[in-house]
Amino acid sequence: MSRSAPSSEELLRIAVEVAREAAATAYRMRAEGVSVAATKSTATDVVTAADRAVERQVLDALRRLRPDDAVLGEEYGEGDAGPAGADGVRWIVDPIDGTVNYLYGLPNSAVSLAAEVAGTVVAGVVRNITTGEEWTATRGGGAHRDGVRLRGSTEIDLGQALVATGFGYAAQRRAHQARVLGGLIEHVRDIRRFGAAAIDLCLAAEGRVDAYYEKGLAAWDLAAGGLVATEAGLRVAGLGGRAAGPDLVLAAPPALFGPLHERLADLDASGGP
Ligand code: IPD
Ligand code: CA
Repeated sequence: MSRSAPSSEELLRIAVEVAREAAATAYRMRAEGVSVAATKSTATDVVTAADRAVERQVLDALRRLRPDDAVLGEEYGEGDAGPAGADGVRWIVDPIDGTVNYLYGLPNSAVSLAAEVAGTVVAGVVRNITTGEEWTATRGGGAHRDGVRLRGSTEIDLGQALVATGFGYAAQRRAHQARVLGGLIEHVRDIRRFGAAAIDLCLAAEGRVDAYYEKGLAAWDLAAGGLVATEAGLRVAGLGGRAAGPDLVLAAPPALFGPLHERLADLDASGGP
């Protein structure tokens, strides 16, 4: 018989506790010095010892606190946690989003941890490893940074919008993304490429950029930051009525979503390799 899942608030409380400890480990390991441990999809898609150690720590903490839950992580996949437990909870973790920034000592990397219940993300936290900034959200409960409620940008003119984006690791995909960017840049205030998708989503939630889009995000890039952006009142979706996903994530306040969607659709932002 299935049990009822804990409240979103309780799942967020656990997520924050685990993410803070994970971010502390990542910070300490960075101070001790990092190097590339392996490469993944391409020679520039790197993994450090810290990516693995931090995810291992998160898996161990969740096994201790929530032994029946499933976990999906960037480095160990579904690991040995098994299918979602009787109450349908699954955790989604990116131990270090912004690994290249982390490797280079740039202050834009984060631990991202979200909790799904029956396939819907209901709680999430993104914690900047260097600055300690922490963004949280629960479904229906709003988004916050360090206790302050987030409501996104009030900009209504795409020509005045500061738009964040990112690039994948594969050369051909990056070339397509650069062509899309080339077609967009004359229609917006400017572009930012900070290098950590989860933080980009949170900055859009906060209105520190006006909107964000990117093709190629994985579930662990999107889960927590996507909820933060949604709960800040942003529309988070793909192109042509599709849900946000690997083809495209567009996060923008309602007034900017339409015009930015139109540009990105014209530029075939979800197409290409
Ligand atoms: C990457 C970062 C980057 C984005 C890439 C992601 P990783 O995640 O979020 O900003 O442009 O699409 O893969 O590899 O640093 O975890
Ligand atoms: Ca990562």
